[in-house]
Amino acid sequence: MGDGGVLEFGAAALAPRSAPRHVALIMDGNGRWAAARGLPRFEGHRRGVEALRKTVRAAIELGVDYLTVYSFSVENWSRPPEEVQSLLALLHRFIRNDIGELRSNNVRVRVIGDRIDLSDDIAALLREAEETTAANTGLTLIVAFNYGARQEIAAAARALAEEVAAGRLRPGDIDADAISARLDTAGIPDPDLIIRTSGEQRLSNFMLWQAAYAELLFVPVHWPDFDRADFEAAIDDYAHRDRRFGGLAPVGRRAKTAS
Ligand code: FPP
Repeated sequence: MGDGGVLEFGAAALAPRSAPRHVALIMDGNGRWAAARGLPRFEGHRRGVEALRKTVRAAIELGVDYLTVYSFSVENWSRPPEEVQSLLALLHRFIRNDIGELRSNNVRVRVIGDRIDLSDDIAALLREAEETTAANTGLTLIVAFNYGARQEIAAAARALAEEVAAGRLRPGDIDADAISARLDTAGIPDPDLIIRTSGEQRLSNFMLWQAAYAELLFVPVHWPDFDRADFEAAIDDYAHRDRRFGGLAPVGRRAKTAS
């Protein structure tokens, strides 16, 4: 890819108003990737982490500001215990092994999802990843772990109800911004582009509120095979979409939030 001409990709080739500021990834297909090769599912997840590592590097080079990755959903606890254990171990290893590179690449890590039911060591690991990168100013890598969008919205509703009950808020003050401000993603712009790999075409309880005006892209490759060319093609696809946010005229990139 990129032998000159209009198909040239990469940061330099992106028109200033056409690149997504926030890309969110549903990294699907690890199990099928492994099954197709006669390998255990764990191997698919392990290769999935490698694909993630490369995608983070590409996101930095392509000028993406926010990258959200769906690493473990609230529903994933229902998988066999050995698969859950392997996913937890991979998360552990990813943070332990990669935090140095993330730090030196000026990446700030944020974690979204429910932490209440997490074991102390996982909770401490996530906290440490956030704290040691908090001052970084480059790419924000948002790891969705033990995440479910309905649960996130329910928690925001509970927080609002408690504020109303305490007399700190009037019901009439509750609007879309008030809800956004109480989500795990408070302060993070909504995703411009959500990519799901492996050909499935659904959101699976991922960023349901934040996805209101996101462009959706479903790509047929399984996550472990997702590479830089796929990422650049996704960004190029996004660059050719007209985003109108309910209005009539296309709205340039960077105007990402809408009401
Ligand atoms: C979906 O594939 C993928 C997951 C449930 C986990 C995604 C996790 C990783 C890529 C690695 C761990 C993440 C971090 C941040 C270390 P699937 O197992 O549902 O695939 P299938 O639909 O083919 O079975």
